[in-house]
Amino acid sequence: MLAINVSGLTKKYKKFTAVDNISFKVEQGRIYGLLGPNGAGKSTIMKVLSTLISPCAGYVEIMGYSLEKDKEKIKSIISLVSDYTVLEDDLTPYENLKMFAEISVSMNSQVEGRISSLIEDFGLSMYKDKLTKNLSSGNKQKLNIARALIKKPQILLLDEPTNAIDVETSRFIREYIVRENLESNTTVVISSHYIWEVEQIASEIGVIVNGKLAVNKKSSEIFSDYKQFLRIFELAFPKEKFSEVSGFLDVSSGVSNFRQTGHDKLIVQTDGSEVAFPDFVSVTEKELSLEDIYSHIVKKGAV
Ligand SMILES: Nc1ncnc2c1ncn2[C@@H]1O[C@H](COP(=O)(O)OP(=O)(O)O)[C@@H](O)[C@H]1O
Ligand SMILES: [Mg+2]
Repeated sequence: MLAINVSGLTKKYKKFTAVDNISFKVEQGRIYGLLGPNGAGKSTIMKVLSTLISPCAGYVEIMGYSLEKDKEKIKSIISLVSDYTVLEDDLTPYENLKMFAEISVSMNSQVEGRISSLIEDFGLSMYKDKLTKNLSSGNKQKLNIARALIKKPQILLLDEPTNAIDVETSRFIREYIVRENLESNTTVVISSHYIWEVEQIASEIGVIVNGKLAVNKKSSEIFSDYKQFLRIFELAFPKEKFSEVSGFLDVSSGVSNFRQTGHDKLIVQTDGSEVAFPDFVSVTEKELSLEDIYSHIVKKGAV
């Protein structure tokens, strides 16, 4: 079943088009990654999907419900995690979760139990009696995710969930999301500008550039599409030859980009055609990463 079906979605803020005619589908139980630079339109898409703002044009269906006709139903099955500032600073973690439970589902002993197990799962038991304002930003974000999970959403939208969060907590959050996805078949959409983060957990990836969906594919397909005309090499050479090598790269037709990584090293990106590097250079081909592909798309557009 399709969990998310977006067709021709457009959102304008006054005359500015933030999201421009975007279409994508996510099957139930998948993790879909939305990548894009700041201002690309990721949060706007997340806000539309979670019913916070209305689109200007296009069609959105969530678990078969139309956004236009069944907004309330969609609200009950979808949760958005964005900023943790939605939490009340002067309440304890438990009080915060209880407050959100009262708003989103009716409180009963089952929900009470769920709150306790979320607090336990997220390692927040020891902060039970602390005010939320005294928690670290990592713990606030954990609490924010726990908040979104109270109602057992069928769709979980995570808008840059690990932005400005320490490494350890970020990893915990990623692992928790994957577990939730596997155990509850929760469909997840995660936006991030940490490319490797999305690469690790998402099976399909959309790259948004200037409000347009430049790429929308399975991550494996993205690699097979790009590896023919995007290759990365490390060149090593005696350091006194640096200007000779960079002069050569400046005028070589197959070279699309290069950057210095040491006095005697350069990373070169080619368009896939064979480049005959000077004899004295030792050349090692590097494995293409999603980050290489992503910067290529952001700079040059999709193929
Ligand atoms: N409420 C708003 N009013 C006017 N412009 C907005 C508003 N929200 C976002 N924008 C603009 O829309 C564009 C997309 O923003 P956003 O969806 O937040 O991008 P992202 O999350 O990818 O950084 C940006 O240029 C942003 O400045
Ligand atoms: Mg954003």
